[in-house]
Amino acid sequence: MRGFKSSSAAVAAGKRRPTVLLLLLVVLAFTVLVVYIQSSFTGNRGSDPYEGEKLILSEFQTSVQQCVASRGLGLTAHIVDHCKLVLKFPEGTNSTWYNAQFKIYEPLEYPYDVCEAILLWEQYRNMTTVLTREYLDARPDGWLEYAAKRIAQLGADKCYNHSLCEEHLNLILPGSPPFHPRQFQSCAVVGNSGDLLKTEFGEEIDGHDAVIRDNEAPVNEKYAKYVGLKRDFRLVVRGAARNMVTILNGSDDEVLIIKSVTHRDFNKMIEEIPNPVYLFQGIVLRRGAKGTGMKSIELALSMCDIVDIYGFTVDPGYTEWTRYFSTPRKGHNPLQGRAYYQLLECLGVIRIHSPMRSKRKQDWSDVPSRETINRAHAAALSLKRNQAGKVNGLGPFGSCKVWGTAGVYGNGPVSGSLDMSDTRKNSKYNKWEILPFDSLRKEAQEHYFQMGGVSLYKMDGNKLDDLVCVKHQMQS
Ligand SMILES: *[C@@H]1O[C@H](CO)[C@@H](O)[C@H](O)[C@H]1NC(C)=O
Ligand SMILES: *[C@@H]1O[C@H](CO)[C@@H](O)[C@H](O)[C@H]1NC(C)=O
Ligand SMILES: *[C@@H]1O[C@H](CO)[C@@H](O)[C@H](O)[C@H]1NC(C)=O
Ligand SMILES: *[C@@H]1O[C@H](CO)[C@@H](O)[C@H](O)[C@H]1NC(C)=O
Repeated sequence: MRGFKSSSAAVAAGKRRPTVLLLLLVVLAFTVLVVYIQSSFTGNRGSDPYEGEKLILSEFQTSVQQCVASRGLGLTAHIVDHCKLVLKFPEGTNSTWYNAQFKIYEPLEYPYDVCEAILLWEQYRNMTTVLTREYLDARPDGWLEYAAKRIAQLGADKCYNHSLCEEHLNLILPGSPPFHPRQFQSCAVVGNSGDLLKTEFGEEIDGHDAVIRDNEAPVNEKYAKYVGLKRDFRLVVRGAARNMVTILNGSDDEVLIIKSVTHRDFNKMIEEIPNPVYLFQGIVLRRGAKGTGMKSIELALSMCDIVDIYGFTVDPGYTEWTRYFSTPRKGHNPLQGRAYYQLLECLGVIRIHSPMRSKRKQDWSDVPSRETINRAHAAALSLKRNQAGKVNGLGPFGSCKVWGTAGVYGNGPVSGSLDMSDTRKNSKYNKWEILPFDSLRKEAQEHYFQMGGVSLYKMDGNKLDDLVCVKHQMQS
């Protein structure tokens, strides 16, 4: 703009001079203007300060596209721009799942924002996904509103009576996080698909540092060669509570994580079993769960470097959902799920194991490398922060909306709440909660120091921003 202003001033000044000089000045002004306009369109660094980021993301899109081509069993990725991508099933794919509400069959195309997806899922690697007392204390509406939403049968929409709500939650509420980012190197998340019976992944599953299972999944000699015998975590919904005493018989250490709301049935169960029980934190309260498998992946990512999934029906060509231990049930959205899991694999979030992939399971060379993913993540974060007008918030605390400090409970990355109920004191919680800092995996210790002893929690399950960040006293 400046070039244009000064040239019009020059034109005005030239009025009293001979016309040749005037003409010369006009030509000069015009040249300045043309050069100025040109430089703003040729895309120099100065004009689009985020060109570097967009280039990194475009290259990342290409590697995701190659990954989908080589691992997607027919799925293809179509790049729209540096963030947007569409996954397409091959033409003629049988879309047998019918949405009665909208009177349509499942579409064969799924659009994604890879920038958002990479930000969301990388965030889980630093997150606490278990409800704690320090979270409820730090969150502004923590006890009054949030706690109330996590208790079925409260008989009120809010915790007007704080001690009543404590009574409901005491059984499942540790003071500080019982589990830590990077605690395990590898985790197996085992779904319940009938596909598991087509392969013998049992030994491979047991080879992981932690195994996460789902609801009523039986673990016994009968299924050992398909699903293994190792039992560490189990996510449960309310409907499964009544059967847990039988299912957990002989597995005292297995940690139960309640997926949505605690309930009288759970409290009854807790009195009968020695197992530690916690409540998942990070659920989407308004829109309902995005699928129970996703919760297991979120939990796994908040503790494990590598997440291998088994028993999620992700191979093409199936028409009904089966379970490895019972008769088939009616499924839902198979294509949508399959496309999303494939995207997650190509974003380095999970590794898929299934019958159709069992032959080449050890080859991950076509998945973008950690360095590539980290670079893409940094670029996506910088673009997003720019859009939000935040220039300085690039660090890991850039999304912290609410800060809290751990009270008397906080003593490093070990919790062990002082006022827990007798039932909790007698449970096997202490395997995790009274864990000395030194016995944590080296990577977990390093992460703790890099984060300055801060635990990150989500306010709302799927939102990127608005974290609750709780600072613990650092251990010397
Ligand atoms: C698609 O599904 C229908 C009905 O389930 C079946 O008759 C047909 O053979 C299937 N086509 C393909 C290509 O699998
Ligand atoms: C609050 O709940 C506690 C525990 O159930 C109960 O003893 C107390 O009477 C309640 N207080 C009020 C004001 O309702
Ligand atoms: C638990 O298993 C043992 C044998 O392993 C059996 O004797 C006992 O009855 C079982 N308890 C329940 C509650 O199923
Ligand atoms: C996650 O934690 C690491 C430290 O282990 C930190 O360098 C990184 O910035 C964090 N990332 C996010 C997305 O919070």
